[in-house]
Amino acid sequence: MNFQLTEEQIAVQMAARDFAKNELLPGVIERDEHQKFPAEQIKKLGELGFMGMMVDPKYGGSGMDTISYVLAMEEISKVDASVSVCMSVNNSLVCWGMETFCNEEQKQKYLVPLAKGEKIGAFLLSEPEAGSDATSQRTTAIDMGDHYLVNGIKNWITNGNSASTYLVIAQTDVEKGHKGINALIIDKNAPGVVVGAKENKLGIRGSDTHSIMFQDVKVPKENRIGADGFGFTFAMKVLSGGRIGIAAQALGIASGAYELALKYSKERKAFGTEISNHQAIAFKLADMATEIEAARLLCFKAAWHKDEHMDYTLSSAMAKLYASTIAQTVTNEAIQVHGGYGYVKEFHVERLMRDAKITQIYEGTSEVQKIVISRTILKG
Ligand code: CAA
Ligand code: FAD
Repeated sequence: MNFQLTEEQIAVQMAARDFAKNELLPGVIERDEHQKFPAEQIKKLGELGFMGMMVDPKYGGSGMDTISYVLAMEEISKVDASVSVCMSVNNSLVCWGMETFCNEEQKQKYLVPLAKGEKIGAFLLSEPEAGSDATSQRTTAIDMGDHYLVNGIKNWITNGNSASTYLVIAQTDVEKGHKGINALIIDKNAPGVVVGAKENKLGIRGSDTHSIMFQDVKVPKENRIGADGFGFTFAMKVLSGGRIGIAAQALGIASGAYELALKYSKERKAFGTEISNHQAIAFKLADMATEIEAARLLCFKAAWHKDEHMDYTLSSAMAKLYASTIAQTVTNEAIQVHGGYGYVKEFHVERLMRDAKITQIYEGTSEVQKIVISRTILKG
């Protein structure tokens, strides 16, 4: 077993770290406060190859491994989780799903601009009545011969307004249950697509989360991904990889808060000495560092399983469950280390605490991760 990163992986980590420091840090508080989508920053990330990191260069991607993706997600999330969620959806849900399951024509038409970062993608599974219970799709894609007619509502869609390309999960044949679900590529500009109001959120406030309505949207048959009825399996397979991205996001939020707390504890003095010399503070830092290291190893293991083409459903669920859990405690403790200063925006840790919460909810709640983990271990 080798825990050493390669030179290429270190270079990716450093490039992402520099980008976060130079391009994301300066405006992050303002974007959070005014719920401003980081369009300019995402464009630059695309130019650097971070929006299609794992996609083969022949489709416009950077051809990197999943470990590099975890490293980049961690660095970006240390500073701005609103940027990293956009990056995660585009990389691991949309681009990976398309590269793995789309045909050549679909890849040339839709994947290439997404992998190059010229366009942004969104993944539309959740509905008002179908969140964790994802097989209960109410959005319909009725087979009309040469096209599908799509009607319904999707909600909580990340990149909902900024994306040009939607991957939409919808029910074609109710009788067949989850085997009657399809995954369709739909242009945001298609007639009948209506973008709802932007959600006013606790955290990741820069990301644009919208509900999307489909009113008699005609979708050509050639925009279906895979065989008829493949849509639910597609969504589950895509989410197994997506959960590695969100685990790395939670890891980054935690390590960003920890680094700030560590630095502050060595500068702030109380009772005649730096607060890091008080054991209560030093032990908090020890707990934070240990939990972060464990989360990082779980992320790396899931990423390694994916790169080695092994089953990563279990390891990605474990990584997401654990990293999102420790992101809550670590960000909370980072505020405690900062005292009153941690409670105001200028010191960043309050934002990181607000951003951490979503990692326990999207791409499968913590309870859903426990369903996935328990079913797998009980099956043996
Ligand atoms: N890979 C392949 N197939 C899978 C699979 C996987 N990882 N997981 C399940 N399946 C298959 C099952 O084998 C089954 O097929 P068969 O009947 O042919 O065997 C079928 O899918 C249905 O599976 P279950 O019976 O296990 O389904 P369930 O109704 O019990 O639900 C669940 C399982 C794990 C709870 C699932 O519904 C789920 O993951 N829910 C959470 C949804 C979610 O994560 N949404 C995220 C939306 S995207 C997002 O959030 C993006 C963002 O924020 C940034
Ligand atoms: P519910 O499923 O109603 O769950 C409510 C509570 O009940 C949770 O605690 C849940 O864990 C628990 N629960 C439900 N069922 C069980 C069970 N069987 N056992 C134990 N506990 C259970 N979705 C997309 O498709 N695309 C996106 O881009 C996207 N982005 C999002 C961005 C944000 C900011 C948010 C808030 C959500 C986003 N989502 C997206 C939706 C997200 O994936 C769902 O919110 C999530 O899957 C939970 O679904 P729900 O909100 O309907 O909660």
